[in-house]
Amino acid sequence: MPTNVPLLRDAELTLLPWSDVDSLPGVRADIVATSNDPAMVRWTTVPHPYTGSHADEFLATVPDGVERWAYVVDGRYAGSIELRPGDVLGYSTAPWARGRGLTTRALRLVAARAFSRGVKHLELHIAVDNSASRRAAEKAGFTYDCLLSEPVRLRGHEDTLARYVLRAPEEPEPNSTSIAP
Ligand SMILES: CC(C)(COP(=O)(O)OP(=O)(O)OC[C@H]1O[C@@H](n2cnc3c(N)ncnc32)[C@H](O)[C@@H]1OP(=O)(O)O)[C@@H](O)C(=O)NCCC(=O)NCCS
Repeated sequence: MPTNVPLLRDAELTLLPWSDVDSLPGVRADIVATSNDPAMVRWTTVPHPYTGSHADEFLATVPDGVERWAYVVDGRYAGSIELRPGDVLGYSTAPWARGRGLTTRALRLVAARAFSRGVKHLELHIAVDNSASRRAAEKAGFTYDCLLSEPVRLRGHEDTLARYVLRAPEEPEPNSTSIAP
């Protein structure tokens, strides 16, 4: 598991590095409940039905090249976000914590950290009918780029994926100045 993943936080949300996720009380049961929620089943590729063994594997393993954080609100697991190879992000919010802007906040925090490390642009690949995810992406400043040519099959549905992008802020030209003449 990567050990150089920092804790990130803003006024409402803590993103805990996955290496510390076991410190959250009840996290295993919370991940099982989150992963069996209908929106997770419809819009992601989590195994279904999702068991405690699946949660144990998710808790213990972060694939090579992936950085993952847990959302923490009031000391409880509230979701996760990860940065994958290719600078593509994936996320989910626990059903009890949805609709209060946590994914929007998580996207902003992880994007700021990635851009500070030299990443030039970030991507999201979202099923076109996943309105909540598209809305969270847009609130975090991502913009629609294109439809990906390869559809995915999610639970028997064939879904087209929309690509959203967020570019790193432009660095000022070496000789430029923000002071008006
Ligand atoms: C998508 C998901 C991560 C959003 O998480 P969240 O923490 O609730 O996101 P936010 O609160 O930051 O933003 C959600 C926005 O979508 C809106 N929304 C929620 N359900 C919606 C729906 N069915 N249609 C349209 N908008 C919807 C919310 O009202 C909110 O917008 P608002 O602030 O303008 O009201 C969460 O719904 C989830 O975990 N879904 C299942 C897994 C998933 O789809 N992961 C992403 C795969 S690409």
